[in-house]
Amino acid sequence: MRKPVLLITRRLPPAVEARARRDYEVRQNSDDRLLSADEILRNAEGADAILCAPGDRLDADLIARLPQSVKVIATFSVGFDHIDIAAARARGIPVCHTPDVLSVATAELAMLLILAAARRAGEGERLVRSGRWTGWAPTQLLGTQVSGKRLGIFGMGRIGRELARIARGFQMEVHYRDVAPLPEALAQDAIYHASDESFLPLCQFLSLHAPGGEATRKWLNAERIARLPRGAVVVNAARGSLIDDAALIAALKTGQVAAAGLDVYEGEPNLNPEYRTLENVFLLPHLGSATVETRDAMGFLALDGIDAVLNGKTPSNLVP
Ligand code: DGY
Repeated sequence: MRKPVLLITRRLPPAVEARARRDYEVRQNSDDRLLSADEILRNAEGADAILCAPGDRLDADLIARLPQSVKVIATFSVGFDHIDIAAARARGIPVCHTPDVLSVATAELAMLLILAAARRAGEGERLVRSGRWTGWAPTQLLGTQVSGKRLGIFGMGRIGRELARIARGFQMEVHYRDVAPLPEALAQDAIYHASDESFLPLCQFLSLHAPGGEATRKWLNAERIARLPRGAVVVNAARGSLIDDAALIAALKTGQVAAAGLDVYEGEPNLNPEYRTLENVFLLPHLGSATVETRDAMGFLALDGIDAVLNGKTPSNLVP
């Protein structure tokens, strides 16, 4: 019996590729560079399924031009702002993603950003590497303590709740902003805010965990930054589009925001070049889910979704 054809647009962890090859005739982009829309369309000819990733732009035009053979798309990510879901629905193509399995890894990374920004880890590392470190000094690179401070979480979904769990271990007081309060069992002692006006002035630390897309575009703008307490620390492990970069850069220069930790960027990998010039920003290259365990689990879940659709079942990981 012929194996279904699966287009995989990027290199995936070895265990995931091995399972894909066991069950599918795999067409793989073995260079691991981003494919152009035309390359995706050419490679999708006759394919039953596409396994794509953030960075691939599956916009309405590309989806409209996909061959009839394509019955399902899965993305190797929880975020699906790179896929035009309405266009896929219009074509009757289900889209799967990878929720839950990356929540812990991404929340751990958010905590890393919080600690690194607060404790000036980037500056310290650069100092040691440069060979200019002259030794311990009582006033060297003084940061701010995390324990006992208030943490505001914008977007209290799965990743936000994991971060709340970790932050409680640092005795942080957790506040959150979302469209509605969570049931008590999920919120635990985290304090809900129905408005930015009550939420932002409390955020000594602000961590963004809302999805990308039009509804949240540039949510952290100059007006909201002005509502933060002076010297707040801002971190983002969600999507770069949530931040108005010019506004955050201006606030990092005046001290309204003391430090930032960023893992994601608008237009990445081409981040606003001013970030690179600021000492008080800790920068990572979109590593939120980048652990071996998590990336394996993401790949397996994406394949589960494709398997389900091609076997006439409803996948557990359809995008909502
Ligand atoms: C996601 O899954 O959306 C991440 O950004 C990739 O780690």
